[in-house]
Amino acid sequence: MAEKLLEGKIGIITGALDENSIAWKTALKAKEQGARFVLTNAPIAMRMGSIQTLAEQCETIVIPADATSLADIEKLYAEAKAYLGGDFDFILHSIGMSPNIRKGRSYGDLNYDWAMKSYDVSAISFHKMMQVAEKMDVMKTWGSIVGLSYIAAQRVYPFYTDMADAKALLESIARGYGYRFGKAKKVRVNTISQSPTKTTAGTGIGGFDSFFNFADQISPLGNASAEACAEYIITLFSDFTRMVTMQNLFHDGGYSHTGISEEIMEAFGTK
Ligand code: NAI
Repeated sequence: MAEKLLEGKIGIITGALDENSIAWKTALKAKEQGARFVLTNAPIAMRMGSIQTLAEQCETIVIPADATSLADIEKLYAEAKAYLGGDFDFILHSIGMSPNIRKGRSYGDLNYDWAMKSYDVSAISFHKMMQVAEKMDVMKTWGSIVGLSYIAAQRVYPFYTDMADAKALLESIARGYGYRFGKAKKVRVNTISQSPTKTTAGTGIGGFDSFFNFADQISPLGNASAEACAEYIITLFSDFTRMVTMQNLFHDGGYSHTGISEEIMEAFGTK
């Protein structure tokens, strides 16, 4: 029988909304690889999504928590620890939302209250989850924490608006807290910069189909699927990546290092 990469490990998986979610696929893989975990999502997502179905499949519980609320995070950790019977080996932060994108505001017409909400939900919540974890001392030594990013943190994708800034902040927090948690407890912190993926958060971005298809044609391996991303997350939770920390890891089929592909040259009539 194949080795189970997460046998004996316990943790927390945020952000599973429906079966397209990266977190949903990750939960199924983590279960398959022998992990035990609790699922969590914002209280409103519990009403919209189908997370209870996933919980049944994974033989676990859902603990509602708004990731921007310190009180909710504290309650989440306390209840998860009681349910799982110990401290955590891994935490997945798979959370993103921009009211400006949802309401179609351009980068030159941002509503700043909404922008603050985007940064809080999509980036600062990552810091909050780690700060509370450190204060409550709920991470095991050699634990692993992963957040999800997008290449708009480094390059301009006009329709990504304030989420680009949120992702840049998220990646910076991974470095800052990765240093701190590494020193304190040998806990590693990384972000995965994922290909465009057909999920609720992804397809909500203006022009999504264009940049999904563009990235697919540029990348020598094609776009990475949500399922492939889940598999990569599992490796980062496993003991085989213990010395990887403070990194933004591109999981994009080679997109980030490709200048141009034959397909794009052909499309522009220069082949
Ligand atoms: P998704 O829409 O399935 O997941 C986003 C999740 O964030 C949802 O479950 C939602 O309920 C949760 N959320 C929103 N506000 C919250 C709050 N206040 N507290 C707790 N949870 C909250 O979409 P997807 O694509 O699986 O997103 C997961 C992560 O992957 C996000 O960080 C996203 O930015 C990132 N990502 C997505 C890409 C894509 O093209 N879909 C590409 C690169 C990164």
